[in-house]
Amino acid sequence: MKPEILVLAASPSAAVMARLEQAFQCHHLWRQPCEAQPEWLAGVAPGIRGVLTTGAIGIGPALLEQLPRLEIVAVNGIGVDAVALDATRARGIFVTNTPGVLTDDVADLALTLLLSAARRLPALDRHVRSGAWERGVPLAPTRALRGKVCGVFGFGRIGQAVAARAAAFGMRTRYFQPRAVDGVAVVRCASLLELARASDYLVVCAPGGAATRHAIDAEVMAALGAEGTLVNVSRGSLVDQEALAAALRDGTLGMAALDVFDNEPHVPAALRELENVVLTPHVGSLTVETRHAMGQLVVDNLVAHFGGQPLLTPVP
Ligand code: 8YV
Repeated sequence: MKPEILVLAASPSAAVMARLEQAFQCHHLWRQPCEAQPEWLAGVAPGIRGVLTTGAIGIGPALLEQLPRLEIVAVNGIGVDAVALDATRARGIFVTNTPGVLTDDVADLALTLLLSAARRLPALDRHVRSGAWERGVPLAPTRALRGKVCGVFGFGRIGQAVAARAAAFGMRTRYFQPRAVDGVAVVRCASLLELARASDYLVVCAPGGAATRHAIDAEVMAALGAEGTLVNVSRGSLVDQEALAAALRDGTLGMAALDVFDNEPHVPAALRELENVVLTPHVGSLTVETRHAMGQLVVDNLVAHFGGQPLLTPVP
């Protein structure tokens, strides 16, 4: 008998999905219409031994409670802030994630957003499409990146990859996170506020969760300033979204470029209607190559667990 797995979201890699089907008896929650999910879940829950979820969906206490035989939660993503870790730890349920394989793409998106904000890409695109260029509507020049300061909040793999890319654009780099990182040439600021004061661009790469909730508050935004730009590729929870909309509206903060939001997929109208914002729908790791690699790592972890082998990338 193959172990029974509850799949909360599919991988876009057909090869990953095929491997999953081959190794496990898969129950696909995402295929069920929303209104049918509770009854369907009640039917399959007693047999479920593994859950495949995403960083954004995670797994909450209510679903965990419904799964008495659960042994492992495999997260197709790096963030585990949406996983009820207190509950998994208390029950000895293993949790795995996908570190490493998505670093480059998420860092690439951070720089894509930073550049899009700096060079006002969405407005330029509209300028061409709307015929404004042909009508001779004048364009204001934008600002160069070289010599500007890129501050990175959260200096793990992704934060360090962002700093390396920013340096390649001639930017100076700084970082802040509570624990200093040994062996890096980038200067660490004493606090997030000091980092914001020193930065022209502040890129949020720190993990989500209670410890960082609303770390980017009105004071940090004001410190970043009217010429400053906030970039977020981590979790919406790190930013006080109401304060952000207000700061962007009244010019306390210059611009924001955001891939993540507080209550995805909902983005407040207060942000959507602003011109000085670049918005993408949580796509940091959404490339063919990376989603394939992430999916393979997820399946490798599940296969290792049910084969009695050590997990490849366990979350401590
Ligand atoms: C994924 C993420 O989009 O890794 C994460 O934590 O947020 C994203 O890379 C998400 O897990 C969907 O698979």
